[in-house]
Amino acid sequence: MTDSYNGKEIIDHDYDVLVIGAGGAGLRATLGMCAKNLKTACISKVFPTRSHTVAAQGGISAALGNMTDGDDWRYHFYDTVKGGDWLGDQDAIEYMCKHAKDAVIELEHYGVPFSRNEKGEIYQRAFGGHTLNQGESIAKRACAAADRTGHAILHTLYQQCLKHKAEFYVEYFVLDLIMDDKGACHGVTALCMEDGSLHRFWGHQTILATGGYGRAFLSCTSAHTCTGDGNAMVLRAGLPLSDMEFIQFHPTGIYGSGCLMSEAARGEGGYLTNSKGERFMEKYAPHAKDLASRDVVSRAITIEVMEGRGVGEKKDHALLHLEHLDPKIIAERLPGISETARIFSGVDTTKAPIPVIPTVHYNMGGIATNYHGEVLKDKKKTIVKGLMAIGEAACVSVHGANRLGTNSLLDIVVFGRAAAIRTCALIEPNTEHAVDRPYEQSMKGFKRLFKIKDNKGSLKTSEVRLQLQNTMHAHCSVFRTENVMLQGVEKLKDVTNAYKDIKIYDQSLIWNTDLIEALELENLIQQSVVTLHSALNRQESRGAHSRDDYKDRDDKKWMTHTLCALNEDGSVTLSYRPVMAKTLTDEVDYIEPKERIY
Ligand code: FUM
Repeated sequence: MTDSYNGKEIIDHDYDVLVIGAGGAGLRATLGMCAKNLKTACISKVFPTRSHTVAAQGGISAALGNMTDGDDWRYHFYDTVKGGDWLGDQDAIEYMCKHAKDAVIELEHYGVPFSRNEKGEIYQRAFGGHTLNQGESIAKRACAAADRTGHAILHTLYQQCLKHKAEFYVEYFVLDLIMDDKGACHGVTALCMEDGSLHRFWGHQTILATGGYGRAFLSCTSAHTCTGDGNAMVLRAGLPLSDMEFIQFHPTGIYGSGCLMSEAARGEGGYLTNSKGERFMEKYAPHAKDLASRDVVSRAITIEVMEGRGVGEKKDHALLHLEHLDPKIIAERLPGISETARIFSGVDTTKAPIPVIPTVHYNMGGIATNYHGEVLKDKKKTIVKGLMAIGEAACVSVHGANRLGTNSLLDIVVFGRAAAIRTCALIEPNTEHAVDRPYEQSMKGFKRLFKIKDNKGSLKTSEVRLQLQNTMHAHCSVFRTENVMLQGVEKLKDVTNAYKDIKIYDQSLIWNTDLIEALELENLIQQSVVTLHSALNRQESRGAHSRDDYKDRDDKKWMTHTLCALNEDGSVTLSYRPVMAKTLTDEVDYIEPKERIY
């Protein structure tokens, strides 16, 4: 059928499967499906190797035991459950940790240039919260390619995709899902950024691998493109997002720029100090110290600053020391962050400490899925037909209330592969598409595009974005209270109203970054609204959600995932999904909640 919108032709494409996003998760899924002859389109707003996976530094976790005797995936399972403060689903955590070893060996065989130990095996380093035998000693479990592990994995997966003749639609901005009246997904609508053409991609399965939404915050380690576009599409389709209140602050973003200083720095022997030169982590985590999990370290830095022991003129940050390490180790194992520290803080890491501050890094929340990647729409775990989500966009939930470092690279390859396996089981290559399709519903995305483009307001996108980022940073931060969040909710109403008053200065559809940023900003605002409401609603402290007015974890009431949907009038509907209280197999026992001490 030939169709048009606003007098502009719509170009239709038929595929078995659509993958939206070309980061590690999207590429691993694409690769798995192409290898089984499913006609797969991978659609990305950036060139694949510019996806945010490229920025992942310290490693990918797997209990290979190359550097610590006796490591076992069950210890990894325990650490992940504990790291997530018992909000993670233990069936999914079991699946991820059990498949970790194979996933890493598979990457090695694909060609990932991992660093090596003296025996020529994959080099592994220590990372926060990774231990042997339930905290008895530190585990070296992070498989590393120097401190550029994500870069190595992303490039390798892209090359594997090319080898398998994957079809890429690069610099296409996906506008919305095409949902039918029964709630099934049939594909997506998109704008080709290069020439301004309009597209409709039809697929029997659509896999969202669109990453997180770190850019809702003022200071983050996320790329400018991390605007959670898939999450927002799901919200606009009337589906809920899960556990959005759990925002991870990485303890060591560079002061001022937010650039990531990998936890690998502390894994290699780096440590933090306050203005008195004290190694303050000894106080907050007597055993693990600087290698406690991220929420613990971020809170510790924040407390040090709040109590007047911050460093610098404004006494508002901490110092990360590497200068005591052998310069050869720094050059070999931490070359990336050394370069970044030099460029963004003027520091030679072999000579002086790096100024650091907790910085938004990861979204534990996202699109609720089971461990096959299938999207769930309610507490009964009803599957949304034709729709999957993987990677940071998804909430499986393996990270629970706080993700352990290096579990995100693992998550993307394990669940990228799982989604491919499931899709191959569900769909035959070259399955016919129906003649009768939800054409009318497909117009929604184009309507949104032109509504924003033609808006007759007065404000610049960048002004409203700054207003949003300031609001989220001040009102949804490391520590939270009802009062502060209620003020944030009011400010978000102002942001939403300000957005209605934007003006797109460039009126063309061709390479219009002003328009793309406005579309992304709407996505950020919608996710911020559900984030703040979810945070306000959860009256306890757990993992990264730390409330001064509800200081304790409340397992009686809150062993539950939040589901938060956004209504058309801007209000939200909250519901819950119980945390999975059993494992997948009897290879590992369910771990009962207990006090979380490092
Ligand atoms: O600190 C880091 O290298 C980050 C790793 C991660 O978020 O998994």
